[in-house]
Amino acid sequence: MSEPAPLHVPGWWQDAVIYQVYPRSFADGDGDGVGDLSGLLTRLPYIASLGVDGIWMTPFQPSPQVDQGYDVSDYCGVDPLFGTMAQFDALLDAAHARGLRIFLDVVPNHCSSEHPLFKAAVAAGPGSPERAMFHFVDGVDGDTPPNNWQSVFGGRAWSRVDPGSDADQQWYLHLFAPEQPDWNWRNPAVGDYFEGVLRFWFEKGVDGLRIDVAHALFKAEGLTDSAGTGTVVDGLRSNPQVSDQEEVHEVYRRWRRVAASYSPERVLVGEVNLAPHRAARYTRHDEMHQAFAFSFVKLGWDAAAWAAVGTELEEARREHGAPLTWALENHDIVRSATRFGGGEQGALRARAGLLAILGLPGGAYIYQGQELNLPEVDVPLEARVDPMWTRGGVSRDGARVPLPWTSASENAFGFSPPGSASPWLPVAAGWGSRSVEAHQAGEDSTLQLLRAALELRKQLTEQEILSPDDGGTWRVEDRSLLVCERGDRFLVAVAMGDVPARLPEGDVVLSSSPLTAEGLLPPDAAAWVLTQDS
Ligand code: GLC
Repeated sequence: MSEPAPLHVPGWWQDAVIYQVYPRSFADGDGDGVGDLSGLLTRLPYIASLGVDGIWMTPFQPSPQVDQGYDVSDYCGVDPLFGTMAQFDALLDAAHARGLRIFLDVVPNHCSSEHPLFKAAVAAGPGSPERAMFHFVDGVDGDTPPNNWQSVFGGRAWSRVDPGSDADQQWYLHLFAPEQPDWNWRNPAVGDYFEGVLRFWFEKGVDGLRIDVAHALFKAEGLTDSAGTGTVVDGLRSNPQVSDQEEVHEVYRRWRRVAASYSPERVLVGEVNLAPHRAARYTRHDEMHQAFAFSFVKLGWDAAAWAAVGTELEEARREHGAPLTWALENHDIVRSATRFGGGEQGALRARAGLLAILGLPGGAYIYQGQELNLPEVDVPLEARVDPMWTRGGVSRDGARVPLPWTSASENAFGFSPPGSASPWLPVAAGWGSRSVEAHQAGEDSTLQLLRAALELRKQLTEQEILSPDDGGTWRVEDRSLLVCERGDRFLVAVAMGDVPARLPEGDVVLSSSPLTAEGLLPPDAAAWVLTQDS
């Protein structure tokens, strides 16, 4: 193995590639069928071997697991389901020793209804300072909530504290499940509380935080009815009363100051699910470092759409100065191999998409299993556990199935040790041929393509052909060849039509499928091209 990269490099995050680990589905160390910290520790060499700069871990803090950990009951602990704080400390040390940074998820919009502060608020009753930490409001009457807002998971966004009580007629707000009450960010005590949470993890040496539902913390004053109510189909974006309120920026200015007070500076990356020009405002120089390019994350296989969104993102980047942050997958969305059409074609496209985002200017996030080109799994109805499924009829379980490590099917394809309980979600048919073991053996596998891409990306950056400051110029050639010129010596091309495409002049240094005998890029393939002698 080559020497681990030094961790103290200013601005390292601008073009970093981060691997997202969904701990409960990554590797099960203790045999209970749920992935955990000890499983992740054992598999760290694998993650390091990919050539990524760090890991983002979705929540492992104490939680009743109603929303698979996004309902946090203790922000500064480790749920026994995943292990102990000593194991987390060991993991952090081991990751740092390998040059891998660790990002955690912080969930500031809501907590669990089991959080001690929420329980205290329920107990303290109407009008108390405890209730002022959340949105407790009298309803229109005992049966009608304060306004028409809908929960993203389906149903209304309000629940009665105690439906049977005449004395307590209050409702509380939950943009997600009823077990996830929203904090009241207009109360300064909430901001102080979260500064403590940030400092707790930063003191430990955690390198960065991914901020959950970052654009929704503030609700418009008055909590009045909204024209768009924020349903399971449209998401939060459609309720202007809860999304992108101006006051939220002050939170991230404060968090940036906290992050910058540590050495090396800690990094903030936001789940800011907004249009490019609105999302970019969260990455102004004194706010977050990064925000996922969400308008890009969910695109279909369409050159014109990629070019249009790419151009919009580039304009927003120029206006606000922050590097872009690319992703095609995460634990909430349908796997790209399926989204791009499924089957062999979807798999080729997902592989091409992965190579493409790794060539674009800025940072990139890869979701576990993307390197194995995993498709979305059609999880049997009775096995689905996502609250968005049980409440709203949309399931995210299919992107969260435990990773296949071995070609043989024993122990959930190597996810668990021998003699373990069944995995928390059933593994899928054909998982063995998609396993890490199978990909390690295959010369042309997507796993090998990822390693080659990250190695080359490093070399090209060292040679100053790629730079974190590069801009991108997007266009479509011959109706379906997507081209993004990066800086002045490099471009990414993706053949998104159904005939082979002629590439712009230059040397192809990497492609997701072999070029045709005529030197054309076949359909559903991407290439990196050096456009001038370097
Ligand atoms: C974010 C998470 C998602 C979760 C939701 C509520 O979108 O990524 O998994 O259900 O927030 O916390």
